[in-house]
Amino acid sequence: MSLPRRLYQTAAKQAKNTPQFISTATHFTDYADLRSDTVTQPCAKMRDAAANAVLGDDTFGDCPTTNKFESDMAALLGKEAAVLTPTGTQANLIAMMLMAPFLGSSVLLSEKSHILDVEKGGISALARIVPKSIPMAENGEMDLVALEGAIPKYDKLNVVPVVGIAMETPTYEMGRVVKPEYLDKIAKLAKKYKLRTHIDGARLWNAASYLEIDLKDAAAQGDTVSVCMSKGLGCPAGSILAGSEKDIRQAREFRKMLGG
Ligand SMILES: Cc1ncc(COP(=O)(O)O)c(C=O)c1O
Repeated sequence: MSLPRRLYQTAAKQAKNTPQFISTATHFTDYADLRSDTVTQPCAKMRDAAANAVLGDDTFGDCPTTNKFESDMAALLGKEAAVLTPTGTQANLIAMMLMAPFLGSSVLLSEKSHILDVEKGGISALARIVPKSIPMAENGEMDLVALEGAIPKYDKLNVVPVVGIAMETPTYEMGRVVKPEYLDKIAKLAKKYKLRTHIDGARLWNAASYLEIDLKDAAAQGDTVSVCMSKGLGCPAGSILAGSEKDIRQAREFRKMLGG
């Protein structure tokens, strides 16, 4: 069964079992409204958890709920550390900032990626990266020949240095779950040219369940990975960026800079 069909069926089943969903969906008839992840509403249990959460100051590291959530997410994603961000867009932007220590560096990403198509040019305007778009096939995979071709093979003053590759699964365009072997090939290429990798895994849970693998295996080929709580999990907001201790320490500085 195709992924969109499976997602449709899951959402339809969820809608049927969640009276709140039905009462708040404006167009609900005999189909599930999938225009946006946030059309779904948090259930009573989710609202209770939010209302009763133990709070503290996150900048001082004093919020037990955030601390536990970040360390649980790091473990689930198989990374050393994780930081909570308000949105997936901000998590991706911070990942781009981590990739490019020099102004004017380039990152390779799919021509139809969310970072390039939707995130309002933050990659250039704020992370000051020159994005290089790579053609994407129907199955959601970037053309690997074009990808390798876009990496300069020599280090000269008059070339834009490529510092990283951003991947996506499921893809924003058409919700394709890419094959783990494809991500392995990109990681190999990145290693060969000493590039960093990021996985925009806004809906990585869907990819992992479709592939029947652990979340950490789905995230394995990214030096950093972003996931969204607000997508299909009934949570109203929040994303995670996970990576090494060093990256996440720096990510906290960038988050502060961005107003997080
Ligand atoms: C693949 C992908 N990445 C990132 C995002 C951004 O997430 P947010 O809306 O939380 O900024 C989305 C949003 O739909 C997405 O589909």
